[in-house]
Amino acid sequence: MIAIACDHTGIEMKKEICSLLDEMGLEYKDFGTHSTASCDYPVYGYRAAKAVADGECDRAILICGTGVGIGMAAAKVKGMRVCTCSDVYTATLSKRHNNSNVLTFGARVIGVDVAKMITRAWLTETFEGGRHQRRVDMLQAIEDGAEL
Ligand code: RB5
Repeated sequence: MIAIACDHTGIEMKKEICSLLDEMGLEYKDFGTHSTASCDYPVYGYRAAKAVADGECDRAILICGTGVGIGMAAAKVKGMRVCTCSDVYTATLSKRHNNSNVLTFGARVIGVDVAKMITRAWLTETFEGGRHQRRVDMLQAIEDGAEL
């Protein structure tokens, strides 16, 4: 199950991404926002990331104006590995090497076609493990209070 969320800037792009998920036959849960009325991105980034942390969803796709704020909000939730990106290469490698579980992008930064290409790549890539697992474990260790 994919968590999806946006602030008021991402409403139209979220609809397009939901259509892509429908096309791909993937299930998702929409954590809002549901209107173009101005709202606060931390609320929606948090709610979607919390669903991932709680195991209700296994990954999240988040959209705000730049992708930055909603990604920062998600990254405050334990266990989140957030990739804010505007290109397919970064999205792909964030899965292969960093096992990112949250993808964010900016509705004011990239167009719908690029957002769809990024989303498709991110959803179909797999984590390579190996030496990358050690590094991802180190990220978790930092979150758990370790000093490296
Ligand atoms: C809203 O104006 C804008 O600040 C928000 O969508 C986002 O870009 C924040 O990071």
